[in-house]
Parts: sequence; structure tokens; C-alpha cells
Amino acid sequence: METRGADMEKWTDEPLGFEEVDRLVYLKAALSETLRLYPSVPEDSKHVVNDDVLPDGTFVPAGSSVTYSIYSAGRLKSTWGEDCLEFRPERWLSLDGTKFIMHDSFKFVAFNAGPRICLGKDLAYLQMKSIAAAVLLRHRLAVVPGHQVEQKMSLTLFMKNGLKVNVYNRDLRGIFANIENEKVGEIQGKVSNDLKCNGS
Ligand code: HEM
Repeated sequence: METRGADMEKWTDEPLGFEEVDRLVYLKAALSETLRLYPSVPEDSKHVVNDDVLPDGTFVPAGSSVTYSIYSAGRLKSTWGEDCLEFRPERWLSLDGTKFIMHDSFKFVAFNAGPRICLGKDLAYLQMKSIAAAVLLRHRLAVVPGHQVEQKMSLTLFMKNGLKVNVYNRDLRGIFANIENEKVGEIQGKVSNDLKCNGS
């Protein structure tokens, strides 16, 4: 809210700039948590060119394929803890909630890891954040009552029946009135403090 103040038009007239998108740490945490539980690429295969031995001792002969489940890796209790199935964006934030903390790429494998890690990772975050912020600033989305939300496993993870939502215009006036009130409160507090300090 600090970047454009409490003037509602200033928020909706112009798209967010790079620095503003950069500051959306909770949104980035929520998107990462979504990708942990619902990775766009749910499994990944590699073709074995030469005989090799994996770190756990498994022999993999040339010509075979190795597939690992990105979907399962995001839901392992041994990796993510007892609350592994809970949607909790806070696991991506510093304790005071102000900074985004990226988990190790070999732990959070939605973008693969190592030399073949997704080259578009940063661009993907920029796109996801920009679009989510642009839509959610202006609209409220509500899943159509009775719509069956079901995932479908394939090369990419998608929704079996699509996602039907009703789109409502978002009324931001209440939010901006609160910000304005908070600001007035802050100024009043500061003035009365200054008066006390001056002995008036
Ligand atoms: C949420 C969005 C995205 C996810 C979850 C994702 C995930 C992945 C994954 C799992 C791989 C590894 C595939 C493999 O091992 O064969 C990959 C590779 C790759 N991704 Fe993405 N990706 C995303 C968006 C993007 C975007 C926006 C771009 C380009 C602008 C991109 C470009 C690439 C490229 C070039 C590779 C191949 C890297 C290589 O093999 O060296 N990705 N991505």
C-alpha cells in the first residue's frame, strides 16, 4: 500500500511496476505453496544414456528411463513436516512475515533442479504475480456453486472440469477508507506526541 497511497484510482489506472510486483511477498508465498501441492508439471522423466548408480545405490542401466513424481515430492511428510498437506503460505516467509524465503530447489522440485532446472522460473513468477495481482485487485472470484473441482494427472496437471467461477467487481472503497483512517490516526498520534515533547 505504501507505493501508491490511499488513492483508489492510482491503483487501478496503471498496471503494477516491476518494483511493486517484487514487493508482493505473500502472493509469491501463496503461489509457491500452490505449486508445491499442485505442480504444473507433476512428474518428470529422464532417459539414461550410460549405466549409472544413483546416490542410494540403485543401478540404472543405459537405455532405461527414470521418472520421479514432483507431485509426491511436494507432499512428503519427511520433507515438509506433519502439516505437509495443509495450504500454508507462511512456510515460505521469514518469521516476521516480511521476506520470501525460497526452499532449496532439490526440496521444492516444481521447477526441477540441477543443470536442467526450468529456465523460465523467474519469468513464471513475474507472470503469475502480475496476473494474479491485476485480477484480484479488481475482481472477486467465487467458484460456481456445485462445480466439481477435480484435478487430472497428465504431462501437465490440469482441472478435469475446468474451473468455473463467477467474477464480481471488487469494491475497494472500504479498504481505502480504512487506510485513510489509519493514516489520520497516525498523524493525530504523532501531533499529540510532538505537543507532549514540546511541553505544550
Ligand atoms: C509455473 C510455471 C512453470 C513451471 C512449473 C515449470 C516447470 C518446469 C520443469 C519441471 C522443467 C523440467 C522439465 C524436464 O526436466 O524435462 C522445466 C524446464 C524448462 N522450462 Fe519451465 N516451468 C514453468 C514456466 C516456464 C516459463 C514461463 C518458461 C519460459 C519463459 C519456461 C522455460 C523452460 C525451459 C526452457 C526448460 C528446459 C530447461 C532445460 O531442459 O535445460 N518454463 N520447467
